Amino acid sequence: MKKSIKTFLKLAGKDMIARSANPAIVRASTIYFKTMQEMRNHQKKISKGKNVAHWDYGRQGSQTTIQLQNILKELEQSYSVFLTQTGFGAVALAIMSVCRPGDEIVISDCVYRPTQKLTTQLLKEFNINAIWYDPNSFEDLKNKVTKKTKLIYVENPGSNTFEFQDLGKIVSFAKKKNIFTAIDNTWGTAYFFKPIKLGFDLSITSATKYYSGHSDVMAGTLAVSKKVYKKVWWYNHLSGYRLSADDAYLVIRGIRTLDLRMNKHHENTLKIIKWLTKQKKISEILYPYKPSSKNYKLWKKYYTGASGLLGIVIKSKSKSSVYKFINSLKLFGIGYSWGGYSSLGVYNDPVEMGDRRFFKIKKNNHLLRLHIGLEDTNDLISDLKNALKKVK
Ligand SMILES: Cc1ncc(COP(=O)(O)O)c(C=O)c1O
Repeated sequence: MKKSIKTFLKLAGKDMIARSANPAIVRASTIYFKTMQEMRNHQKKISKGKNVAHWDYGRQGSQTTIQLQNILKELEQSYSVFLTQTGFGAVALAIMSVCRPGDEIVISDCVYRPTQKLTTQLLKEFNINAIWYDPNSFEDLKNKVTKKTKLIYVENPGSNTFEFQDLGKIVSFAKKKNIFTAIDNTWGTAYFFKPIKLGFDLSITSATKYYSGHSDVMAGTLAVSKKVYKKVWWYNHLSGYRLSADDAYLVIRGIRTLDLRMNKHHENTLKIIKWLTKQKKISEILYPYKPSSKNYKLWKKYYTGASGLLGIVIKSKSKSSVYKFINSLKLFGIGYSWGGYSSLGVYNDPVEMGDRRFFKIKKNNHLLRLHIGLEDTNDLISDLKNALKKVK
C-alpha cells in the first residue's frame, strides 16, 4: 500500500525488537562482529554503498542515525542522506565535497551569512573563487558561469530578504553545462519542496529548525543525488562529520509531527500577515502571500506550502524606536534559530545580513525578521499591536 508521507512519518522507525514505538538510542563507538570474516564482508558491503543495518565503527553512526537517514531518504526522495552535527556543517559538507582548487562557485547573493563567509574566506584560501549573482536575475546567474564553474549554490528563499528563484530553470541550465547544483532548503523543508526530485544534486537542511522543531537540538542533513553520492561519501568519511545518536533521536521525535507543524506555521503566518497588511507602519512584507507578485508565482511553481519565517519592513526615522518595538514584544522571543514551535523576532543589522551586493535597504526603512510559531494567533496579534505603538 502506497502511504502518504504524513502516515509514513508516524510509522517509521519503530523498534520491533524492543517492541517500542521509537528506535533505541544506540550510543556506540565499538561495533562487535562475531568473526573477522564477518567484519571484512560487512566492510565490503559498506564500501560498495549497500544498505546496512549497522556500521563497522561508531564514527559512521549507529542504528539510531540509520533510522533517521531512512526516514529522511523517503521524505527528501533522494538517493542518500548524510547527517551532520549542525546545519552549517551540512553547508560545508556540500561545498567541500565537490569544489577543488581552481574551481569557481557561482553563488546567490542572498545566502545565509556564515555561508557567505565560508565561500569568501575559507574557499579563497583553497584557490576556489566565489562569484556572486543577483537572486532576482536568472540572466545574471547565466552570465556569471564560466568553464571553471563547478557548483551553482542557491538558497531559496534568500536569507532575510526572501527572494524566490526559478529553481527549475537553474537546474536545467546547470545540467546542460554539467555543473553541480546545491540548495539550502531549510525554509521550506522537503515537506513543502523536494529539491533532489527537481534535479538538484545537493540539498541542505538545518535540522536544528523545522525537522527537530523544538529548539532543543542542533543537527544538519544533506540529501544527495546519485551523481554526487560518492564524492560526498568520500569527503564525509575523511572529515569525520557525524551526528550523535541522542541528537538523531531528538530529530526523529520532532519529525513525526513535521507535517502538522509546517501546515500550522503556514496557516498562522497567513493570519498574521492579513493583520500586518492593514498596519500603516509596515511598508512591506517579505513572504509569498500576494498572488500578483513575482515571488509568489515562483514559490507556487515549486512549493506546496510556506513556513513561518517572514520579513517585514518598518518605515521610521527612529531606529531606536524600531528596536523598542522588538524589545516590547512579550510573546516573541528575541533570538535566532527559527523553526521551533515558538515565535521570534529580530532586527536585521549587518550582523544578520553580511555583505550584500544586490540588496540595499532604503533610508529610514528597517528590515526585521519574524518567526511565527504555533501559539494562538489572536495572542500574537495583540502582542504585535501593543509593541507597534513604540514605533515613532
Ligand atoms: C538558511 C540557513 N541555513 C543553515 C543554517 C545553519 O544551521 P545551524 O544553525 O543548524 O548550523 C541556518 C541557521 O540559522 C539558516 O538560517
